[in-house]
Amino acid sequence: MVSMSHFEFNIPGRVIYGAGCLARLKEIAPQYGRKALLVCGKGSARKSGSLERVLSLLEEADVEAVLYEGVEADPSIQIVDAGASAARDSGCGLVVGLGGGSTIDAAKAISGMVTNGGSVRDYLEGEKEIAKPSLPYIAIPTTSGTGAEVTKNAVLTNRDKGYKRSIRHFYLIPEAAIVDPELTLGLPPHITASTGLDALAQLIEPYTSKKAQPLTDTIAMEGMRLIGRSLRRAVAEGGDLSARSDMSMASLLSGMALTNSGLGLAHALSHPLGARFGVPHGLGCGLFLPHVMEYNMPSCVARYARVAEALGCDVEGLDEAARAQKAVENVACLVEDVGLKARLGDFGVKEKDLPRIAAESRGSSRSGNPRDATDGELVEMMKNVL
Ligand SMILES: [Fe+2]
Repeated sequence: MVSMSHFEFNIPGRVIYGAGCLARLKEIAPQYGRKALLVCGKGSARKSGSLERVLSLLEEADVEAVLYEGVEADPSIQIVDAGASAARDSGCGLVVGLGGGSTIDAAKAISGMVTNGGSVRDYLEGEKEIAKPSLPYIAIPTTSGTGAEVTKNAVLTNRDKGYKRSIRHFYLIPEAAIVDPELTLGLPPHITASTGLDALAQLIEPYTSKKAQPLTDTIAMEGMRLIGRSLRRAVAEGGDLSARSDMSMASLLSGMALTNSGLGLAHALSHPLGARFGVPHGLGCGLFLPHVMEYNMPSCVARYARVAEALGCDVEGLDEAARAQKAVENVACLVEDVGLKARLGDFGVKEKDLPRIAAESRGSSRSGNPRDATDGELVEMMKNVL
């Protein structure tokens, strides 16, 4: 573990949090523009009524909405490019993203592309760099897990080439994040579980990454405490506002932690599996997390001991090594308790695919992991969840 004596810490200028705080969109939106591209997913915001709510708040604020629906899970280059054209052609001065992590990220990339120009493919493949501030962007998450409402990256998928990559820049951080736990009340248990485990991975991985730093350490510990206390309840009793509020806060904190301190192997492996086999992001992260923790143990004993305390494990009388082991056991239990039972094989992954997945996991998440893993070690790790 490298202890950082120099670091940078970035979050949105405005984070608005609390049950019912969506109402503040009426006051906030017109501060940034009079015409908004409203980016949504494939229908859940419409079904839950949150889209109607946002449309009427914008109307009351005299902000014209140009609706851009249909963002898929693991958003594509095409959906971002078409969204940026729609915003440009209709003269939008503002982007509002309403949905889960995929929608929040797609809207983030759209707001960046409107001002920077060209196809987002050029930025993903390293031919162009973000050089201009994005169009103002208000992010409104309807799930609690990705923390994408406060991050500086947008994860996009190129299905032709089989990769999942981020565009990443300080300029992409949303202008404002409106985090209203009431929007998550109707999420089904399996989404609550997988997004919640994504959030947990986004707290434990930054806390133990090579780029860990004091501000994200503090944030990550608090996020873990909230998940230890409330994830099981949010899954079992979806209508429990206090559990939902904890999970929305934990997700928000996880975004702040990951965008400033990076991630690790659970995320590194989850990305190529998502791009090649459609393994949902949170599920992949949740499946891998206990195995990654076991692997990282030699580099993380002291930190995992504190993770155990944050998660609420009974660690009294145990020495540091035993406490650290408790953290791994607790996370493995949590994954089971929230009902995450899928295996990679359920998505068509075969043992012969694993070396390629390992090779494709190279990138910033893997290099930030506290213990440097060989491709062979990652293949062994993936066999545990095949
Ligand atoms: Fe994640």
